[in-house]
Amino acid sequence: MTKYIGVLTSGGDSPGLNAAIRGIGKAASGFFGMQVIGFRDGFRGLMENRAIPLDGATLSGILTIGGTILGTSRDRPDRMPVGGKILDITDVVVENYEKNHLDVLVCLGGGGTHKAALKLKEKGLNIITLPKTIDNDVAMTDVTLGFDTALGIATEAIDRLHSTAHSHHRIVVVEIMGHRAGWLALGAGIAGGADVILIPEIPYDVERIAGAIRQRARSGKRFSIVAVAEGAASQQDAAIHANALKKKEKAKGKAEKRKAREALAELELHHTGNTLRLARQLEELTHLESRVTILGYVQRGGAPSAVDRLLGTRLGTACAELISEDTFGVMVAARGEGTEPVSLEKVAGKRRVVPLDHPWVESARHVGTSLGD
Ligand code: F6P
Repeated sequence: MTKYIGVLTSGGDSPGLNAAIRGIGKAASGFFGMQVIGFRDGFRGLMENRAIPLDGATLSGILTIGGTILGTSRDRPDRMPVGGKILDITDVVVENYEKNHLDVLVCLGGGGTHKAALKLKEKGLNIITLPKTIDNDVAMTDVTLGFDTALGIATEAIDRLHSTAHSHHRIVVVEIMGHRAGWLALGAGIAGGADVILIPEIPYDVERIAGAIRQRARSGKRFSIVAVAEGAASQQDAAIHANALKKKEKAKGKAEKRKAREALAELELHHTGNTLRLARQLEELTHLESRVTILGYVQRGGAPSAVDRLLGTRLGTACAELISEDTFGVMVAARGEGTEPVSLEKVAGKRRVVPLDHPWVESARHVGTSLGD
């Protein structure tokens, strides 16, 4: 019997998604004789039943293209903004799954997508996920789709910032994405030879960073590159944030919960100016002119690297193979040179952050990089 597959991309886009869609589609239809459709704009498209056939013509020529041909959104079935309200539209999703006679729904996404995918699995749907995010913070996989490309972009940016920082004898503070994980900043910081690398996993002390920069100046290096992850925080701010998180977890009753949520949201809003504040503090403490570069969405855009094209193809084709064997309720994890199905329960709600004893952390310290602690 022909199998029917639905595919959607959810959460922030990342380079390599099209390679994965192509991998799933070509293997499923060309090799296993299945029928494949794609839903536009993540779970919103599934709710609105906006589907397109993922046939030979649609899949052709997309391997090298960035973003996702399906479009994406951060909308989730249990918290879908509809007409100014937040609704749980899980039943509509289940209905449309059945209306399209799907045997499986493949969701390509990061942390939020995995939580949504597990809920759909619990509703009885056959679900498979593929781990994608430039942040590399999905649990139980060696690496996520898009990380390698973003790492290359951020590294090249640091390379370019070096010559201008050197010429002007400045501190250049470069903000790198990664949400609450430091993989991108740490990887690009090491590869680009940043003098200071700040990641969320290691709260920093501004005085220590300034000390490291002053030490460089004394040895004749009057410029410094500070690679700061968007989620990095000072020791004081990290303690305040941890406290607010604890309060949110312990909160009882609606009012207390709302208050705790609001307090956390305020702290997160305050955090958005963190890199600018850090640069100002370093300028005051070192008397060296400082400049800020926020890399932002450039890290997610453009053509995927060869590594991400390979990874997308590997994960996508493995996904089709799992479907052919009726293996559902799993994420297709990247494991060594191959792949491995991991049950969604082991992935959803977990985040893979940089362990403090990770070899990259040790290498950075051994080449004399300050990690701000
Ligand atoms: O998860 C990928 C990511 O680019 C993070 O690094 C960043 O914090 C976030 O998405 C930005 O989200 P949005 O695309 O919703 O602005």
